[in-house]
Amino acid sequence: MQPPAQTRVFASLLDDVRESRPPQARQGTADPAFYTDERWFQAEQRKLFADTPLVVGHVSMLPNSGDHIVHDHSGKPILLVRGKDQKIRAFLNVCRHRGVRLSNADKVENRTTFVCPYHNWIYDLDGSLHKIPLKDECFDELDKDCLGLTELPLTILEGLILVSGTPTGSAALPNGMAELKEDFRAFGLAEHTFFRQSVTTKDANWKLIIEAFLDGYHVVRLHRKTVGPLFLDCVAKSERKGDNIISVVARQEFSDALSLPEQDWDLRHHASCAFFLYPNTTLIVHPDYISYLTLFPQSASKTVCVHGCLIPEPPQDEKAAAHWERAYSIIENGVFQAEDLFVCEQAQIGMRSGANEKLLFGTYESSIIDFHQILAEQLGPYQAQSG
Ligand code: FES
Ligand SMILES: [Fe+2]
Repeated sequence: MQPPAQTRVFASLLDDVRESRPPQARQGTADPAFYTDERWFQAEQRKLFADTPLVVGHVSMLPNSGDHIVHDHSGKPILLVRGKDQKIRAFLNVCRHRGVRLSNADKVENRTTFVCPYHNWIYDLDGSLHKIPLKDECFDELDKDCLGLTELPLTILEGLILVSGTPTGSAALPNGMAELKEDFRAFGLAEHTFFRQSVTTKDANWKLIIEAFLDGYHVVRLHRKTVGPLFLDCVAKSERKGDNIISVVARQEFSDALSLPEQDWDLRHHASCAFFLYPNTTLIVHPDYISYLTLFPQSASKTVCVHGCLIPEPPQDEKAAAHWERAYSIIENGVFQAEDLFVCEQAQIGMRSGANEKLLFGTYESSIIDFHQILAEQLGPYQAQSG
C-alpha cells in the first residue's frame, strides 16, 4: 500500500539531509495588489469560495441529537444540527415564512425542535416543517411538506465537516482532498474530540495568513521566544496533492530519525505536519493535539479566523482540562495571535503603503509559490487587476 503522503514527504526530507541535497531552489514574487485589491476579493469569492465545501467544524462538536451551532462567517447563515437519526445536516438558518433566524447559538446548544421566534413555525431537527400555528385560517393552499429548511451540501472527511454555502452546489470535496484520508487516519483525526475554538477578526488579507503556515523561513525567527527553538532552521519539505499542500517541518528530534528504520519514525515527534486544505484551511498536527485554522475573507483586508482545537480524548478530570486549556492557549494566544497573525496585520499595513512593488519569496518560502499556482489555476493570473 502507498504510505500516507506525509510519510513520503518525511522520507524525502530525511534523504535530502542524509545526502546534503540542497532544497529545490524556487523563488518568486507577488503583486501587493493581490492582497489589497477588492476586485481580487470579489473574484475569489466567486471562483474559490461560493460553491466549494469549506471546513466548518468537527463531528465531535455535536455529540448528541439536537446539538446545534450556527456558522455565519462564510457569508451564508449556516445552521449545523445533529438529527434524531444521528446524522449531521447543514441548513440555511432562515425561517421559510418570512426569513427570521431560527438559532443564534454561537456555542453548541441543544433543542428538540427549532421554533421561529416571530410566528412560531416549528421545524424538526431534520429540517422538516412540523407545525404552522393557525395554518388552516392563515394559509389555505400551503403544503408544509414543501417548506422544510433549505439544506446545504455537507460532506464529512475523517470527522471534519465541510459545507458548501450554495444549496444546489456540490458536496464533492476539492481536488485531491479525499486522497488525504489515509494521512488523516494515520493520526486519528476522526477519533479526536472538539475541545475549544476561537473566532477572531484580523485586519489582514486571508492569503497572508495561509502563507504564514506555508513558510519554513520564519519559524525559528518570528517564534524565537515561543516554539521556534523546537524546530530546525529551514529543514522542511512540502508536496502538492491536487489543490492541497502537505508540509513537513523538522523538529529538533528530526536528526534521531536519520538512523531509525521507517517503522520507528514518529512524525509527531520528529517533525510537525501541516496540511493546506483548499481553499482556506490549515490543519496542523501538534505532538499531542490537532489544530485547524479556517479563514473566511470579509474583504480584501479583513478576515475571520476560526481556530479549533481537537484533542485525543475528552478530558477525564479538571487537571486534564486545565492541561488542554494551557496547551491551546500557548498556541492560540502566544503563537498564532501574538506572532503569526500579528505580522500578517503588520504586512497588510505595509502592503497599502506602496513601498514594495512586489513581494519576494525565497527558497524556504517556495510552498507559497505552490499556493499561488493553485489559486491562479482557479482565478487566472491578475484577472482582477485588468478588470
Ligand atoms: S418568520 Fe418565522 S414564523 Fe414567521
Ligand atoms: Fe508561524
